[in-house]
Parts: sequence; structure tokens; C-alpha cells
Amino acid sequence: MSDAPEYVVREPDGYSSGFDTFTCGHPTLDAWLQDSALRAHKAGSTRVRLLWHLDSASLVGYYAICPTEVRRAELPLSSKVRAAMSAVPGFMLAKLAIASHAQGRGLGRDLLLDALEHICDASDLAGGRIIVVDPIDDGATAFSARSGFRAVDGHTRMYLLVQDAKASLDLE
Ligand SMILES: CC(C)(COP(=O)(O)OP(=O)(O)OC[C@H]1O[C@@H](n2cnc3c(N)ncnc32)[C@H](O)[C@@H]1OP(=O)(O)O)[C@@H](O)C(=O)NCCC(=O)NCCS
Repeated sequence: MSDAPEYVVREPDGYSSGFDTFTCGHPTLDAWLQDSALRAHKAGSTRVRLLWHLDSASLVGYYAICPTEVRRAELPLSSKVRAAMSAVPGFMLAKLAIASHAQGRGLGRDLLLDALEHICDASDLAGGRIIVVDPIDDGATAFSARSGFRAVDGHTRMYLLVQDAKASLDLE
């Protein structure tokens, strides 16, 4: 049996085929990939990475991350993080989607791990203490909660500390 990887995650440069047929069950996420992902990546406003199935050369997922800042008052987190800062620098997991036909096989989790590794690397280079996600529906909320994100009661936005992401990835 071959040990060659079945999937690979790549930057979009030179690999934009498959954008127009990608469908994940959320038209807004499909449309963003088709209409805005390349432009946003090239402009540097977000970083986009694509998950490819190598055998079929098909696009099966993508995510987008960007820098953000969270106001202290919004945080559900401990006074350790809140102390002495009016805003906490961090990263927004702005988009994450797996193609409908490939969902439920662990690919979403694998792609999220790739995103967290990149965020942790960026944090080591330039700072940033918190990761934010705005889940698109209840399924995305459940997926994010399974991955360690936590919400404040009554709010949909969810958070994960970079230090906790590093601990869960064994990067500390
Ligand atoms: C949400 C999404 C990225 C999950 O990807 P996936 O490949 O289907 O998920 P995985 O197979 O990797 O599942 C990882 C874990 O999340 C759970 N999970 C995934 N989708 C779920 C859902 N809709 N409801 C409840 N739990 C879910 C899985 O049961 C699994 O749990 P486990 O740790 O007990 O095994 C994917 O379904 C998707 O693209 N949905 C449409 C777009 C979307 O909602 N994006 C927002 C993501 S924040």
C-alpha cells in the first residue's frame, strides 16, 4: 500500500481551478470562494488555503484567516488575558468549508488543524493571543465546540486562546 498522501493543502496561487463548482451547502461560502478568495489573498487582506484531493485533482475544502482585534469587554476569558489590555490582538478564522460530498470524514478537522498551525506560527512571529470564529449555523457551532472554541452565553461568536491551540497541537 502506498504511503503517499491522499490530500494536500496549498496556497491558491496557480491553483484556482475548481472554484466555480465548489459547493459546501452554504451558498455564501461558495460565492466568497468564487468571487473574492483570490482577490483577498492577493491583496493580503486574508490568507486562503485550499484542500485538494490528489487523485481526482479536485478542490474539497478551503479556509481563510486574517488578523483581528477583540475588545476586552467582549471576552469570555480569564482576567489573565483581559488584564491591562483594552483590545486583544488575534486572528479571525473567517471562512472554513468542506465540499458537501466530502463532509463527515474528518477533513474539516484536518483543515482546521492546518489553520491553527499557521495561526500559531504567525503568533510566534508577530504576536496575537486569541482566535475568533463566527459560526454560520448550529452545525458549525457544534464543529467549532468539538475543536475547542468556546462562546460567551447569549453570543454566537466563539474563541480559542492561541496558547490553548498550541497546547492541543503539542506546539508548546
Ligand atoms: C462544518 C464543516 C467544516 C465540518 O467539516 P467535516 O469534514 O464535515 O467535519 P469532520 O468530519 O472533520 O468532523 C469533526 C468533528 O466535528 C463534528 N461535526 C462536524 N460537523 C458537524 C455538525 N454539522 N454538527 C455536529 N457536529 C459536527 C463531527 O461529528 C466530528 O466530531 P468528533 O470529534 O466527535 O469526531 C463542514 O461540514 C462544512 O463545510 N459545512 C458547511 C460550511 C460551514 O458550516 N462552515 C463553517 C465552519 S466553522
